[in-house]
Amino acid sequence: MHQPSINEQRKNDHVAHALEQQTKQTLHPFDDIRFVYHSFSNTTLDEIDLTTTWAGHDHSLPFYINGMTGGSEFTKSINQKLAIVARESGLSMASGSVSIAMKESHAHDSFTIIRKENPDGFVMANLGAHHNLENAKRAVDLLQANALQIHLNIPQEVVMPEGDRDFSMWSKNIEDMVQHLNVPVIVKEVGFGMSRETIERLLSLGVKTIDVSGRGGTNFIMIENNRRDQLDFSDLAYWGQTTPESLLEAYSARSNPSTPSFDLLASGGIRGYLDIIKALSLGAQGVGLSGKFLWMVHEEGVDKTIQWVKQQEEAIRSLMLMLDTPTIQDLDTTQLILQGDLKDWAIARGID
Ligand code: FNR
Repeated sequence: MHQPSINEQRKNDHVAHALEQQTKQTLHPFDDIRFVYHSFSNTTLDEIDLTTTWAGHDHSLPFYINGMTGGSEFTKSINQKLAIVARESGLSMASGSVSIAMKESHAHDSFTIIRKENPDGFVMANLGAHHNLENAKRAVDLLQANALQIHLNIPQEVVMPEGDRDFSMWSKNIEDMVQHLNVPVIVKEVGFGMSRETIERLLSLGVKTIDVSGRGGTNFIMIENNRRDQLDFSDLAYWGQTTPESLLEAYSARSNPSTPSFDLLASGGIRGYLDIIKALSLGAQGVGLSGKFLWMVHEEGVDKTIQWVKQQEEAIRSLMLMLDTPTIQDLDTTQLILQGDLKDWAIARGID
């Protein structure tokens, strides 16, 4: 039997801790958003269209499987299950960071399985921003990817004992990739959210698709904290912006007429159709789920996960019927009431 390397063990640990976090979810930032309900609708069920466009591609569903894993035997089996779900339900899907495959060639097939199972789907490769253009090209080639996700994860690196301590090349690397890769580059957080200033920085580097990936679901400070012995970082459990707060930050950036247009994706703590609809109504064009899909394929299996996707799709259609919004774009016009911490955030940041 192949003994897992430190890197492979880390990948397995991440999955184990993320699964455990799914059983203890207590934060529900999307509950601070309510819809104003109106008693008439001109929309009919059969005219509802769930197609949405981001990263230069039409996606038949407004939610997708966000970046998670790969690198070990165990995570290969997770990627295989996720890829079958993606293929059978038409979901777009990202791999986890391909970084490990740059160093360890035995890790390749835990990523290539995604393309093998889903030859025609929209697949995104994933890498950290410390990688240069050459590695980015290798990652895209390995998965024959349609797009590349670049993750920003300073809090995770800092709490990870073996993590990076120098982030000074990130902007240059991102700029290089945006200019020279022949697929779209999506820049994402990993569950700490984004500020208006971060979004504006990314836009100045030429980035056109941004996933704010906020706090509220999988928490990588707590995952890495569980993996270390000394110095407890659990005081930082609430670090970062929630996903709805991050979407307000993006709204604020977009409200400046001189801001270049960009595709906005939301992820972090998405539980199902209602959070998806709320994120779309806050301006997102697509919504990513990680921890939830991990839990579903691992605990319930592939068939039940496919069924769950179909149920979410049906529920999203029903809600769009009630909200009188025939297209995903129309959701942007729904009237929302913000309450609690989210309202406080909007006031403190001057967003109305
Ligand atoms: C992740 N996430 C992640 N993100 C990324 O860009 N590259 C990666 O390699 C990983 N690895 C990873 C492993 C596991 C097990 C999980 C659950 C998640 C972060 C993920 O894409 C997302 O940003 C956060 O998990 C928040 O979304 P959820 O999990 O709350 O839906």
